[in-house]
Amino acid sequence: MDKAYQKLIDGNRRFSLEKRFEDPEYFKKLSLGQKPDYLWIGCSDSRVPANEVTSTESGEMFVHRNIANLVVHTDVNLMSVLEYAVTVLGVKHIIVCGHYGCGGVRAAMGNGSYGLVDNWLRNIKDVYQKHVVELEAITDEDKRADRLTELNVIEQVQHLAKTKIVQGAWANGKQLAVHGWVYGLNSGLITELKAVYDDKGDIEPIYRYEFSKQ
Ligand code: CO
Repeated sequence: MDKAYQKLIDGNRRFSLEKRFEDPEYFKKLSLGQKPDYLWIGCSDSRVPANEVTSTESGEMFVHRNIANLVVHTDVNLMSVLEYAVTVLGVKHIIVCGHYGCGGVRAAMGNGSYGLVDNWLRNIKDVYQKHVVELEAITDEDKRADRLTELNVIEQVQHLAKTKIVQGAWANGKQLAVHGWVYGLNSGLITELKAVYDDKGDIEPIYRYEFSKQ
């Protein structure tokens, strides 16, 4: 058997030792519970590790990752993560973080088929079609992919703002903001997109829920 996995076990031993060396109580404190302020929805891409690129520690961020950081309202996995993060953990910020050079976005721009993932990437094709005029005016393919990456993130931020979970938090007066970011693989830097939602008034009326006063 290939022993490449051993590197992970060895790395874990080092991690545990280093953390306990810095703070003997580190794991004891973490084991008491979590109260993260952030929910991170990112791409599964191995080059965008949520904690590492934000210099955050264990316990600071609740994380959900899937191919191309999509928020699909019928995805029971993501919706469970979202509801738990908002209603139980009480996160204050939800971040959708895409990344330039995303293979999922690139695949969605083309006509190839890759298996089950085609169904998943259909969501990005819909974003492409929604903005087809703007996108097809961009002749450089890399630049067009970059713009689709941004538009895809903005779309997912809007999807979050359209959920009953997020709107319910707003209706209850909770401080909750949804942000759209893009990470640059070649710079290690995050760009904040002008897509921050903290009120249902920013989305189209048809998607707004009314909540009866308790
Ligand atoms: Co990606």
